[in-house]
Amino acid sequence: MSDPAATNEPADEPLAPPIERLALEAARRVFADHQPTAPRVLASSTSRGQTAAALAQAGADVTLLELEDFRAALLRDWLGEGSPVRLVCDTDPPAEPKFELAILPVRRDGGAELARDLLQGFIAALEESGTLIAVADHPNDSWLGDQLRALADAKAIRRYQSGEADAASGATAYVVRRSDIRLRVRDFSCEFAFRDSGRLIRAFSRPGVFSHRRLDLGARRLIDAMQIAAGDRVVDIGCGAGVVALAAALRAADVQVTAIDSATRAIECTRRGAKLNGLEDRITAILSSDGSVPESGSYDVAVANPPYFAHFRIAELFLQAAQTALRPGGQLWIVGKQPDWYQSNVPRWFDRVKLARTGGGYCIATGIRPNL
Ligand SMILES: C[S@@+](CC[C@H](N)C(=O)[O-])C[C@H]1O[C@@H](n2cnc3c(N)ncnc32)[C@H](O)[C@@H]1O
Repeated sequence: MSDPAATNEPADEPLAPPIERLALEAARRVFADHQPTAPRVLASSTSRGQTAAALAQAGADVTLLELEDFRAALLRDWLGEGSPVRLVCDTDPPAEPKFELAILPVRRDGGAELARDLLQGFIAALEESGTLIAVADHPNDSWLGDQLRALADAKAIRRYQSGEADAASGATAYVVRRSDIRLRVRDFSCEFAFRDSGRLIRAFSRPGVFSHRRLDLGARRLIDAMQIAAGDRVVDIGCGAGVVALAAALRAADVQVTAIDSATRAIECTRRGAKLNGLEDRITAILSSDGSVPESGSYDVAVANPPYFAHFRIAELFLQAAQTALRPGGQLWIVGKQPDWYQSNVPRWFDRVKLARTGGGYCIATGIRPNL
C-alpha cells in the first residue's frame, strides 16, 4: 500500500480536526512499519470520517462504524457518492473478518463507559497481528492512556501528541499491537427494573443509550402522565432504552407500540427489553432518524421525551413526526424542561394544547392531532 498520508487530501484540509489528523499520522507510522498490501481497517469518526476517507483513497479496505443513523446519513454525504469507504451503521464492529488496523477516536464528552465498551470492541475486532490506534481529543490526555495501560504494559504503547498551538485543542494518539494487549472482556450492558401502576417492568440498556442503567426522571414524568387505553396503537418517538414503550405496552390490554430511535443501540435495547417482558409481539422497534414512522396517520397516541440539546431542532422533528404518525384526533404526550418553548411551539402542530408543570422542573405538553 502507498503511504496513506501521501494521498491524504481530506484529512489535510483545514477542517479536519486534530483528532483526525493525528489518527492519520499514526496510521502512516503503522503502515511505514508493516507495509501490508491492502490492509483491512476498522475506523470510527467523531468528525467527518476524514481519516477513513484518506486511508481508503490510499488503497486500504476501510470499514467506518457509526452507531447512529442521523450521523451515518451525514457521513454518507460527507464521504460523497462512490466513496470506497464501507459505512456500517450498527451497534458494534462486525465480528468477521478481523482487521489489521483499528482506529478509535475518543471524545471527552462521549461518556466513559461507551469509550471503554468501544475500546474493547475495536480490540476484539483485530487480528492477532493487528494494531490499535486510539486517539483522545486532548493533547494532555491521561484518561485514555490509563485505560490502555490497564490492558498492556506501558512500554508496549507508543504515544504521540499533536503540536497544536492552542493547548486545549490538540490530540493524543496511542498505538499498541493486539498481541501486546491482555483483553479481559467486560459486559457493560445492564438490566434494571422500574414500576408502573404497581407492575415491575424490566429494561435493558447499553453504554451510549439513553438512559443507561436507570430510568430517566423525564421518562418517569411521562410514564406517570400518559394515558393509554386498551387496544391503543402507540408510537414512541426517540425510544432510547425503550422504557416508555414498555410501560405503554403493559398499561392496558392489546396495546401495540411502534418505537423509533436514531441510535442502533437504542433499537437493540428496546427489543431486548420487549423480550425480557414477553412483549415481542406488542413492541416493534425501528431505526429511524428523519421522523418517519410506518403506517403514518394511524396511531392513537404519540409519546416523546426529546433530548434537551440541539436548540429544539430534535424537539421540532419529534413534534412533526408525532403529528404525521397520529390519526386525526390522536393524542400527543411530550415531556420537556422548557415550558415556555412548549407552550409557544406545540400549537404549531397540535390543537387543544395543555401544559402541566410537574416536579423536578419538567413539564408535560398534551395536544390533539388536528384534521389537516
Ligand atoms: C431524552 S432521550 C429519551 C429516551 C427514552 N424515550 C426515555 O425517555 O428514556 C431522546 C432519544 O431521542 C433519540 N433521538 C435523537 N435524535 C433523534 C432523531 N433524529 N430521530 C429519532 N430519535 C432521535 C436519542 O437517540 C435518544 O434515545
